[in-house]
Amino acid sequence: MTTETLFTPSRLGAIAVKNRIAMAPLTRSRAGMDGVPSPLAARYYAERASAGLLIAEATNISRQARGYAWTPGLYTDAQVAGWKQVTDAVHAAGGRIVVQLWHVGRMSHTSLQEGGAAPVAPSALQAGGKVFTETGFETPSMPRALELHEIAAIVEDYRQAALRAQAAGFDGVEVHAANGYLLEQFLRDSTNRRTDGYGGSIENRARLTMEVVQAVAGVWGADRVGVRLSPLSTAIGDTPLDSTPQETHAALASRLGALGLAYLHVVEGQMHAEDGTGRLFDNQALRQAFGGAYIANNGYDRQRAIAATASGHADMVAFGRDFIGNPDLAERLQHGLPLFNAPAAGYFGGGAEGYTEFSVAQAA
Ligand SMILES: Cc1cc2nc3c(=O)[nH]c(=O)nc-3n(C[C@H](O)[C@H](O)[C@H](O)COP(=O)(O)O)c2cc1C
Repeated sequence: MTTETLFTPSRLGAIAVKNRIAMAPLTRSRAGMDGVPSPLAARYYAERASAGLLIAEATNISRQARGYAWTPGLYTDAQVAGWKQVTDAVHAAGGRIVVQLWHVGRMSHTSLQEGGAAPVAPSALQAGGKVFTETGFETPSMPRALELHEIAAIVEDYRQAALRAQAAGFDGVEVHAANGYLLEQFLRDSTNRRTDGYGGSIENRARLTMEVVQAVAGVWGADRVGVRLSPLSTAIGDTPLDSTPQETHAALASRLGALGLAYLHVVEGQMHAEDGTGRLFDNQALRQAFGGAYIANNGYDRQRAIAATASGHADMVAFGRDFIGNPDLAERLQHGLPLFNAPAAGYFGGGAEGYTEFSVAQAA
């Protein structure tokens, strides 16, 4: 019997993985308002350690980076201590875990910012959609455009968070440059109207992502740093697309590839999704431009994941929602067992219910 590629070991840069199944980053909003991960998080992640790679949920690099209540951070010692319990538990269970470094940019609310300040963004353009505050869903507040001299401090916040991620015992970091948050707000011309060195050309719009990735790679070594992109996602904050998503993302992927990173992680559009210009978006072109390990995500099931890794479309496939209700997803996929569809009501907030516990009646 041949083993499908999906279930075989591989390497992402310096990170050895025992199979090609990654847990996609999933915000679960169960941390304290001080950004310390929930005490339940160690159990939650360790239960999922049979995945080749766990990508821990988006984690705020600073107080300013925060856009949602009860999300964890990596900017205080208490947060580091909380995460250390998580990484210790995952390693004891034989898993590998990286953390996703996050700055939400304009996807925030004054009630979540220090002193009720406005959120920051490349340009003063208000996001649509909703952010989650302590009192419920709110429209994102009007952001202010970052001054040129403030940008270096944000890069430094990423570097400090990368150092704290090391102290917390992670195996590496993923830079979140997807889903309508700060780095993607700089990348897309729809959200970036700057006229300085961070706006205008693709090179300028990609500059902040490159500076952040280089700063983080200076801490970890490039071979323990991955980057997440989502060329076609518009869901969060109703973020409009870039006017040339293929060219913009391929140019960034090629620059990232030259750094020798651990992996590129792409939230792919729906199959055969158009890129808004009437053309089909070509994920393989991104992969080729990058040249290193490629993690595919978005709507994959067992068959598509097996096919994508067998054909060489992807080195690894990340599963999001399926990991919420199926901690042993890697085994279930390997043995073709049925999956439990966790109720979306338990995705964000609350305690053990829908996180580390599912009632027996809901078992697969
Ligand atoms: C509850 C929930 C939380 C999420 N949180 C994050 C996050 O923190 N960072 C991120 O990049 N994507 C996040 N996503 C997107 C997922 O990582 C993934 O891209 C999406 O669920 C599609 O993959 P799937 O079809 O396998 O679920 C989240 C999705 C869900 C459903």
